[in-house]
Amino acid sequence: MADGSWYDADIDHVIISETQIRDKTAELAKQVSADHADVPDGLLLVCILKGAAMFMADFARAIGRHGPPVELDFMAISSYGQGTTSSGVVRILKDLDRDIAGRHVIVVEDIVDSGLTLSWLLRYLESRSAASVEVVALFRKPEAVKVPVPVKYVGFDIPTEFVVGYGLDFAERYREVPYVGVLKPEVYARS
Ligand code: XMP
Ligand code: MG
Repeated sequence: MADGSWYDADIDHVIISETQIRDKTAELAKQVSADHADVPDGLLLVCILKGAAMFMADFARAIGRHGPPVELDFMAISSYGQGTTSSGVVRILKDLDRDIAGRHVIVVEDIVDSGLTLSWLLRYLESRSAASVEVVALFRKPEAVKVPVPVKYVGFDIPTEFVVGYGLDFAERYREVPYVGVLKPEVYARS
């Protein structure tokens, strides 16, 4: 591991580069800031752990450059399901720390796949009387969508392939990869 990173050998190909992620994050932050310039109490950014952790950190700082004040909160949820597909039945592992009644909430998501998790989450947040709930998702797999969810801000539409990096994992690994890519088939074979 003298040169490069341990994961270089495991990545088959890059889907979205580090530069593309940086530029898109700035663009999304600019749009969200322009659309919410006058929110009275600023925005409440709700990060969905763990996948959106990297995006949250970069997105919040990008908003900070020109946008309204933000507060950060974090939820961890797990979707009951078979293997890698989600069922839409969701369990809360970590709830919001604070009351969101009357707040303008932006859900910060890594990726929208079937849409089942997000659809549940939006109903949950709306039931807690937020003034508004909108979603920013860095990635979306449009061909995988099973339930239509209103995602106002989308970074990249990507093919229906399993991807890792920039927060996204396979068996809890590869989250630190700075770009998003597809693993070599042998990585799955050896796990
Ligand atoms: P649904 O299908 O409910 O699921 O929209 C969304 C959640 O599933 C995870 N997900 C992925 N995680 N690589 C990952 O590491 C992927 O390609 C992928 N696709 C979906 C993710 O947690 C997302 O929030
Ligand atoms: Mg996620």
